[in-house]
Amino acid sequence: MRIYRGKDYKDMSRKAANILSAQVILKPSCVIGLATGSSPLGVYKQLIEWFIKGDVDFSEVTTINLDEYKGLEPENPQSYRYFMNDNFFGHINIRPENTNVPEGLAPEAEECARYDRVIRQAGGIDMQLLGLGRNGHIGFNEPGGAFDKDTHCVTLTDSTIEANMRFFEKAEDVPRQAYTMGIRSIMQARRIVVLASGEDKAAIVKEAFFGPITPQVPASVLQLHNNVTLVGDEAALSMM
Ligand code: GLP
Repeated sequence: MRIYRGKDYKDMSRKAANILSAQVILKPSCVIGLATGSSPLGVYKQLIEWFIKGDVDFSEVTTINLDEYKGLEPENPQSYRYFMNDNFFGHINIRPENTNVPEGLAPEAEECARYDRVIRQAGGIDMQLLGLGRNGHIGFNEPGGAFDKDTHCVTLTDSTIEANMRFFEKAEDVPRQAYTMGIRSIMQARRIVVLASGEDKAAIVKEAFFGPITPQVPASVLQLHNNVTLVGDEAALSMM
């Protein structure tokens, strides 16, 4: 595992954006796996800036997002599709038809099978961007889940609902279920870039990358991947 240490959130976002833009420059038709949450926001902002300056071109890129709340329509401002359009896709020259996010309103079995097909037909993921949940979840793969799953529907844990409540008016509004790429889908990505920012991620970063590999800490499976880059700020890397 390679570790890049940024001074602060801005600096780590810039480092991670450099890795992503290198991928796009080296392979303009690459497939990038994307994440939501606050961790990747700075990366998206930086990539938009470089796009505007003419340094990076997304016209041939395909993106495949990790997850989506079940039951939310794409126009819902809390949906991950809305988040991606609003914070990234709407500001760069990616073709909308080349962006993929699970469809929250689609029926479970069909949607999960369709999403696995999307990944397969795209030729697999060249580079997957990941955030880390406070309990070690990646995508929406919560503790205790099996490592051998592809896209599936999960029931969110109380700690995830609580953590994600900040984006909703009240806890009852946070959807209880989500569609997510499974650990197997994530592990099949050729390269993985994990983002971690802030003091409240320090303990889980240490546990995930230096603790035992266990489904209780889903991100710990990343220790078995042969091309993982962790990009963190001082606070998130302070326990290592
Ligand atoms: C959500 C997302 C994850 C994300 C995690 C961490 O639960 N489904 O993909 O990594 O939150 O979010 P944040 O980056 O805001 O800490």
